[in-house]
Amino acid sequence: KKPVFILAIESSCDDTAAAVLENDKVRSNVVANQLIHQEFGGVVPELASRAHQQNIVPVIDAALKKANISKEDLSAIAFTQGPGLMGSLLVGSSFAKSLSLALDVPLIAVNHMQAHILAHFIDEENFDKPDFPFLALTISGGHTQIVKVSNYFEMEVIGETTDDAVGEAFDKSAKILGLPYPGGPLVDKYAQLGNPKAFAFTKPKVPGLDFSFSGLKTAILYFIQKEVAKNPEFITENLNDICASIQHTIIEILMDKLKLAVKETGINRIAIGGGVSANSGIRKTLKEAESKYGWKTFIPKFEYTTDNAAMIGIVGYQKFLIENFENSSVVSKARIAL
Ligand code: KG4
Ligand code: ZN
Repeated sequence: KKPVFILAIESSCDDTAAAVLENDKVRSNVVANQLIHQEFGGVVPELASRAHQQNIVPVIDAALKKANISKEDLSAIAFTQGPGLMGSLLVGSSFAKSLSLALDVPLIAVNHMQAHILAHFIDEENFDKPDFPFLALTISGGHTQIVKVSNYFEMEVIGETTDDAVGEAFDKSAKILGLPYPGGPLVDKYAQLGNPKAFAFTKPKVPGLDFSFSGLKTAILYFIQKEVAKNPEFITENLNDICASIQHTIIEILMDKLKLAVKETGINRIAIGGGVSANSGIRKTLKEAESKYGWKTFIPKFEYTTDNAAMIGIVGYQKFLIENFENSSVVSKARIAL
């Protein structure tokens, strides 16, 4: 049987990404990060869309080249329809539409949040695919959700944040500590050298499976201000312990809700996705939960956690199999349900 070759394009936020999949295997996965946003301490939408415009052709060329296939071999073009920044999404969708018209191949629209979840179905050695149904914890800079996944396209959000996303909690805490944007990976790095029990931050009380992180950010801010008033060197002298304690608190919040979700649904297969699932503490805690609670946990390969196009490609492949195609009037959506 002839293999399916999908070219996938992701441009929802500040990374321009393209990937080529042969069926459910990744032939290439290219990401161009936009470093420009660092000096502004956050993503500047206007700059993001401009950078996408500059990067998109070279990134797609690189993906095709690495995959060692020509445009004429492609079976379909998949792109991120949303959620995301409108100006960024439009660059990817316009390019995808033009290419699908030029090559006369189907166009496939992909939901970015579904893609973070379905990234687990990329065929990779030493990585198991979760059996349905399973629970997905999607944690990124924009989202924090617990999703009950009954099938590839049958997903239900059973808990989500009422304010900040986990990634924001990491990034805003890092900012309070004077670390550059995005601070999440740095908090992770320093946390590995610190004592997670050094400082205690109160956890929010949110009913059910929902989350809240804005209170934690404020608690950290007041704590740091108070300590720095007493000792101006407090942050530098305790950076590792502060980061370890913040990370520990965030992980406890996530684990408390996961435990409740397992109890309520009776499902003990847990898959994580989204940029924050790159966090070493979260990965370790979830691995340990297998023996501790008898869960089966699924932790994606590092390059499929932060924004990437391979995850868009695997959804594209699943949609290709059921011929879920779009015509060229399909529109980008800044907000889009699962
Ligand atoms: O999924 P993603 O790449 O983009 C969004 O769709 O938001 O997630 C980016 C978020 C940022 O907040 C970043 O700080 C966080 O993921 N992040 C981490 C780590 N790596 C990325 N947070 C904690 N620890 C990490 N190792
Ligand atoms: Zn994402």
